[in-house]
Amino acid sequence: MNTKASGARPNGTATLTYGNKRIELPALKPTEGPDAIDIRKLYGEADIFTYDPGFTSTASCESDITFIDGEAGVLLYRGYPIDQLATESSFLEVCYLLLYGELPTASQLEQFDHTITYHTMVHEQISFLFRGFRRDAHPMAVMVGVVGALSAFYHDSTDITDKRQREIASHRLIAKMPTIAAMAYKYSIGQPFVYPLNHLGYTENFMRMCFAVPCQEYRSNPVLAKALDTIFILHADHEQNASTSTVRLAGSSGANPFACIAAGIACLWGPAHGGANEAALKMLKEIGSIDRVPQYVKRAKDKNDPFRLMGFGHRVYKNYDPRAKVMRDQCYAVLDELGNHNDPLLKTALELERIALQDDYFIEKKLYPNIDFYSGITLSALGFPSDMFTALFALARTVGWVAQWQEMIEDPQQKIGRPRQIYTGARRRDFVPREKRG
Ligand code: SDX
Repeated sequence: MNTKASGARPNGTATLTYGNKRIELPALKPTEGPDAIDIRKLYGEADIFTYDPGFTSTASCESDITFIDGEAGVLLYRGYPIDQLATESSFLEVCYLLLYGELPTASQLEQFDHTITYHTMVHEQISFLFRGFRRDAHPMAVMVGVVGALSAFYHDSTDITDKRQREIASHRLIAKMPTIAAMAYKYSIGQPFVYPLNHLGYTENFMRMCFAVPCQEYRSNPVLAKALDTIFILHADHEQNASTSTVRLAGSSGANPFACIAAGIACLWGPAHGGANEAALKMLKEIGSIDRVPQYVKRAKDKNDPFRLMGFGHRVYKNYDPRAKVMRDQCYAVLDELGNHNDPLLKTALELERIALQDDYFIEKKLYPNIDFYSGITLSALGFPSDMFTALFALARTVGWVAQWQEMIEDPQQKIGRPRQIYTGARRRDFVPREKRG
């Protein structure tokens, strides 16, 4: 399992002068992307911190897995462009690529598919966990709880120092997330759980677990299953985004893989991150029709209005999110297959995109549609309720999380993540007895 980062090349030094202090810091040259200055010795040798809230200019690790060029709108998984993988590959093949670093041979993929398939069932006791949730619990609340609880069931794959146990835990998480997500959905609608079938493909199996009912034969639609499989590819990894950084930070303390992925799910839930797909659909429904788009664009530009265009903007992409283009194509494919050519939500989304991309505010701030802008319309057309959208994002992102988690553990430079701060509070002062306070 090729899970160790290759390492950046030394590239001379940078000199920092501050007051009467002067320090030489090593510079690093990556395969792609900006050079970096290694500041690890800065505090020890010069008693100086750096300050970067939100980590806009900070690399937290070296990684071989995913590369993003935000200015050029490029996304590579292990060097392969996302649009090629979306067109040519399958989600399970992309899982192998992200985990092992290379595209699999036919026999390697067949073996991997068999391994994942035979991990798709969950321990029968897990089904009782769902009973503890209200039926109207948000599926992400259930996912956080149930995935974290896997630590209580799979003790033979929680020793993070054992390479084989890390691999089995990774396989279990990739395999069981669809089953758990489908169970969360079924529980929320009061329908019985549906067990996975080993003869079905990964995504087809998931759709059947979501939409089959005991009273009638479930017939899969291969066009829709392929569209969802492609959507999973788009969501599989995205370098050091907030939820992946959460997984790495949790893993840096030695927490077991199931606890780390539960932490990643919790972070992904936020509307500024993975919750944006649910928020974007809610926004499009609130806008309601194309004649109301201008007033919402005006609100998004108003500094005094907290409203933002959900599904727009990105910390890294200052050009069109390459995933959004593929997502829009999948949206068209699904709506065409279902005969929803005049979906009003799509019309509203296309008008919103047209107006925003011509508006100086969005042009100057380099705000483009991101992956979440079209995903909500597509997932809704596939039959998923909006509160399942982020659970689907978590299902797909699990492979990225476990690949990054593996890489972090194998990286000899990694240690427990423990940022410092700039303290701006009160100076030392003595305790004041209650009777002497004002
Ligand atoms: C994902 O990191 C990843 O890789 C995430 C992800 C992944 O695959 O893991 O790609 C998935 O999370 C995609 C992003 C989904 N989130 C949204 O669609 C929510 C709406 N977008 C914003 O909240 C925002 O764009 C962020 C959070 C995505 C990025 O925020 P940044 O980089 O911190 O940028 P910012 O908030 O500082 O915005 C810069 C300016 C600000 O104006 P000024 O203060 O400079 O005057 O742009 C404005 C913002 O007000 N702005 C928006 C806007 N997004 C930013 N204005 C209107 N609508 C928006 N959507």
